[in-house]
Amino acid sequence: MVDEKTYTLIDGRKIAAQIKEEITQRVQELKQEGKKVPHLAIILVGDDGASQTYVDHKVKACKEVGFHYTMMRFADTISEEKLLKHIDQVNKDSDVDGFIVQLPLPPHISVERITEHIRPEKDVDGFTNRNFGSIVSKNPLLMPATPFGVMELFKRYNIETEGKSCVVVGASRLVGAPLSMMLIEHGRATVTVCHKYTVNLAHFTRQADILVVAVGKPGLITADMVKEGAVVIDVGTTRVEGPQFKNGYALKGDVDFTAVAPKCSFITPVPGGVGPMTIASLLLNTLRATELRNP
Ligand code: GUN
Repeated sequence: MVDEKTYTLIDGRKIAAQIKEEITQRVQELKQEGKKVPHLAIILVGDDGASQTYVDHKVKACKEVGFHYTMMRFADTISEEKLLKHIDQVNKDSDVDGFIVQLPLPPHISVERITEHIRPEKDVDGFTNRNFGSIVSKNPLLMPATPFGVMELFKRYNIETEGKSCVVVGASRLVGAPLSMMLIEHGRATVTVCHKYTVNLAHFTRQADILVVAVGKPGLITADMVKEGAVVIDVGTTRVEGPQFKNGYALKGDVDFTAVAPKCSFITPVPGGVGPMTIASLLLNTLRATELRNP
């Protein structure tokens, strides 16, 4: 008889809903205390379909928890200088507690110049160098949102990271790099970071008690690359188009879920794993930014 393995599905939607419930409560308390209700501004440049969907989810989340929000849209022909001026305005607007510039931006605009123009106290994506560096501070300012969401999943599923072998595949500035720092600093893990130049990726992934993949290549991680009993966190969300999918596309993770899941102790699905946690973290950061600015 085949030995049936069981794994726990990490339900990011459920945890994100719990977090939103906690934030909704806090907003009620802030109102009762006569304090400021958090206000998130969202800047969207161009009409990329995926960005529009993400932004719609962020607006919906603001409405659910009772935050104020402002949507600012610009054509993809906007100059970098003009966009920087709009960011100056939002930086100065005392009613806005936090804001994000949805990525990607058109190629003529430098993501780094735009990101670094955001006041770190309002940078609720946690993208600025100041907030990246703040991960190693005793008192971090605003944590990069997606890795913060992954750490929150470990916490809420009681997944111990201390002393564990954690392998992070993908060293991006927005996910892999900050997450590896969080796992070292806050998770006390032994961390290996792999990237597109890594020779023999499987050699490293097979060592992982906790494997986090944030690359954007559907199916990159196959069953032979994963240790028995590993925790697998899939941050990949690639839009794969095809007539067989409702809406004409589906979101695919980096992990071959069907083959890998039976080997795992815990695994995140895509969609419904890390994705909803990014928005929950954005809301947590906006609440934190508000409370830091209005003690
Ligand atoms: N594009 C894809 N994910 C994100 C995100 O978390 N924040 C922003 N600003 N842009 C994104």
